Amino acid sequence: MKALVLSGGKGTRLRPITHTSAKQLVPIANKPILFYVLEAVAQAGIRETGIVVGDTADEIRAAVGDGSAWGLRVTYIPQEAPLGLAHAVKISEGFIGGDPFVMMLGDNLLRDGIKEFVKEFEEKRPNAQILLAKVARPEQFGVAELSDGKVLRLTEKPKDPRSDLALVGVYMFDSHIFEAVESIRPSARGELEITDAIQHLIDRGLRVVPHTVTGWWKDTGKLEDLLEANRLVLESQKPRNDGATDRSSKIEGKVVIERNAQIIQSTIRGPAIIGENSSVRNSYVGPYTAVYHHSVLENCEIEHSIVLEHSMISNVRRIEGSLIGQNAVVTQSPAKPSAYRIMIGDSSRVEVP
Ligand code: TTP
Repeated sequence: MKALVLSGGKGTRLRPITHTSAKQLVPIANKPILFYVLEAVAQAGIRETGIVVGDTADEIRAAVGDGSAWGLRVTYIPQEAPLGLAHAVKISEGFIGGDPFVMMLGDNLLRDGIKEFVKEFEEKRPNAQILLAKVARPEQFGVAELSDGKVLRLTEKPKDPRSDLALVGVYMFDSHIFEAVESIRPSARGELEITDAIQHLIDRGLRVVPHTVTGWWKDTGKLEDLLEANRLVLESQKPRNDGATDRSSKIEGKVVIERNAQIIQSTIRGPAIIGENSSVRNSYVGPYTAVYHHSVLENCEIEHSIVLEHSMISNVRRIEGSLIGQNAVVTQSPAKPSAYRIMIGDSSRVEVP
């Protein structure tokens, strides 16, 4: 059994963060999303892991290395362009060989990992197994229609969904999938779609079975979902204080303060996490906030947000529902006229009261 983790892609929905960085390395509760995925692979007892990489290959390699931190043996598979999930499968045939494999999207988070999913596949040995979750708005997903414990049909973003079961970003295949990805044509958006490849298996009479997810699942491809994933993970964290807190600060609820972090004259109300070597002075950090390492917060209030490394927020009244990129500065200025002075990246979004 091998694993294939997809960490290429365009990441258009997370611009401007993805202009400079891999979206799979955005931290959720101060740990890159991709690391949760690799943990899930290792927990399922898999060692041989291929990571499909695109423009951000160097950054992914620097973060993951040879995979030994998770007990994995990682092989990098460069994809010349983000030509679709089925294209990623196609270029990975050499790495996979004849083995069955689990494919995971590098930006999807599953509370309960993939151990049960992999176990079921090994017991039943179908040709493919897909992971499904009940969702409120199936028309935004790939939707599965089931009958007699088998998958009958998959439809990408149907106008009139036949079920509320959406495809979650985890799949298992045997080697029949390679023939399927060779047979399909690019979709209207120019990508080789994995749903078309799986439909091809069904149409050929091969056995495609569903597995319904029990715990929560989150695709973190856009800001609201990243913030929600951050909320879900922070909620389940155990409080810990490895940093320094002065006597006048208040730490309330599930708060993690990492090594060398400093909390001075501030209130941190959990669930929240303050990263290594970051400092919070004369500020309020409210629920569902993750501040990554080497950042500085002073005279500010922030909640329900993710702050990346080496950023600075100072003298700002209240920030919420925000993602602050690396090395970013958000500050008040005494300069006149008093106005918003903004230098932001392409495809950024700023909301002001
Ligand atoms: P998506 O989020 O579906 O696509 P994307 O990364 O291009 O983002 P956007 O829609 O915002 O432009 O991709 C799911 C995962 O699969 C993600 O981790 C990126 C990865 N991926 C590849 O590795 N190769 C590909 O060709 C595609 C389309 C995605």
